[in-house]
Order: sequence, then structure tokens, then C-alpha cells
Amino acid sequence: MQEVKIKHLTALSDLSLSEIFSILENSRFYFQNPTKTPNYHTKTIAHLFFEDSTRTRVSFELAAKRLNIISTSMDLSSSSLNKGESIFDTIETLKALNVDILTLRHKSDDLIYKIKELGISIVNSGSGTTGHPTQALLDACVMMQEFKEIKDKKILICGDINNSRVAASNIELLKRLGAKLMLSSIEELKDEYQDLKNYSLDEAITQCDAAMFLRVQHERHKNKFDIDDYNKNFGLNLDRLNKMKDNAIFMHPGPVNWGVELHDEIKSHAKSRILKQVTMGLFTRVAVLDWILKDNK
Ligand code: CP
Repeated sequence: MQEVKIKHLTALSDLSLSEIFSILENSRFYFQNPTKTPNYHTKTIAHLFFEDSTRTRVSFELAAKRLNIISTSMDLSSSSLNKGESIFDTIETLKALNVDILTLRHKSDDLIYKIKELGISIVNSGSGTTGHPTQALLDACVMMQEFKEIKDKKILICGDINNSRVAASNIELLKRLGAKLMLSSIEELKDEYQDLKNYSLDEAITQCDAAMFLRVQHERHKNKFDIDDYNKNFGLNLDRLNKMKDNAIFMHPGPVNWGVELHDEIKSHAKSRILKQVTMGLFTRVAVLDWILKDNK
């Protein structure tokens, strides 16, 4: 019998460009045809979230339900990890319980790569500051619905870029899709982004097709953060929004710190795609789970 290769989505580098386009196309297909999802009733998924989450966790749970996958969300407050069991033994235990896919969110930058060899498909639901690949895929899906294609579109990413795993994955994906990236970072860009230009928000906002604002990662800042200063230089208010191009949109992965990254006055603005991002998060995760399982029914 031919051995089936276990697929992982630990980083976007796990996907070829054609696989990326296929996932984006399937996300749109399942959004438009929500009843046409395949049935994976013999497969099992476990969701392990060591950091807080609403969008990613719930959308993975609902995506698995739509695919009829047997699902469990581990309650980490009452698991045997609290008795000293290691994450590796925990995953071996889940494997012995016939779990096929693990979705993992963890503060570690590299744990996600260390558990790839344990014989379960791993999906990165947020790893430290290094990656959140399904967020970048769902964001690309929203932009493709808006602009048909991303190539040559000017995409601004603004805010706490160095600390943001959403930025890391979006920068990687948008480069591969041929976007013209504009960054507006609160601090000097870290080494891996030195090939990109750091713009002032007031300059970039007038030129971009999509502006992506990032959550300030308060938990990753050692020194106290000056919210007023941030808001003045990196916040989107109605005045800045009115300077955007007619067809331009703004996005935010959530959760939003209202009054910090985005002003309350633009909450329901027609240019916002924030809730569209949440909706496409569900169908992108359906497409990702389908990609993992489709050759392995
Ligand atoms: N965008 C995002 O990852 O949101 P959650 O932390 O709510 O999952």
C-alpha cells in the first residue's frame, strides 16, 4: 500500500504557490457554496490553545463541524499538562486516541516545528511572534474578493509590526503573491524586514489599496506604552480614512483595541472589512482542513 504523506501547515513555506491559490479559490467556493463541503466523518481533530483566542479557535471548531470531523477542544486548565505531562507526551496520547490533526496556538516561536515529527498533521493557529498562516490566507482571500488579484496592489501594514505574527505571515504571503508592500512600523524594522521601506502612516494611507492595522501586542512590550502617541501617529481616524483612495479598504485581524489602532468613529465605516475577515476565516479554515485531509480519506 502506498504510504500517505502527512501534511502540515506550520508555516506558509509548507505550501507551494499553486497550493496557496487552490486554498484561496476553495475558501471562496465554500463561502459561496456552504453546503458543498466534503464529509470527513472518520477523521478526528484536537484544538490546543495555550493562548487566548476567539476568532481562530471558534472558526476552526466550526470549520471542523462543517466537514463532519470528530472534534475536541482540550480544556488546558484541567489537562494532565498541569500534572507535569509534557506537550510531546500529550500529543503522543492524542495520536493514540486516533487524532489526525492538531491545531496549536502557543507563545513559543518554534514549538510548532518541533512537534512535526510526531505523526499528526499540525496546523499553526498562532506561534509566538513568528507566524499565523491561516490569518494571512484569510486576509488574502478578502483582498482577492475585493481586487480580483493581489499582484501589484499596494498593501499597507501598520503598527506593532516587529511583534506581530499576523504581520510576519502576511508579509511572507503578500510577497509571494506579488503585492507592493508598504510598512508603517512603530519602531525600526527588524532585520528580516530590512528589504522593505518604513513609511509614515500619513504618506502611505493616501496611496494604498488596502490598509491592514495590527493589534498592539501589549503582552509583548516590556516598557509602558504611550497610547496617545501611538494613536496620533499610527491610529486610523476619520480624517485619515477620508484621505484613502475611493476603492481602498481597511482591515484588522482582531481583537481591535478601539481607540488605539482604530478610532470608535470608524467602527461601522463602509471601508471596513473586519467582519468580512472573520467570516472568511471560517471558510479559509474549511479549505485548509480539506487540503490536509483530501488525499487521505
Ligand atoms: N485574529 C486572531 O487570531 O484572533 P483571535 O486571537 O481571536 O483568534
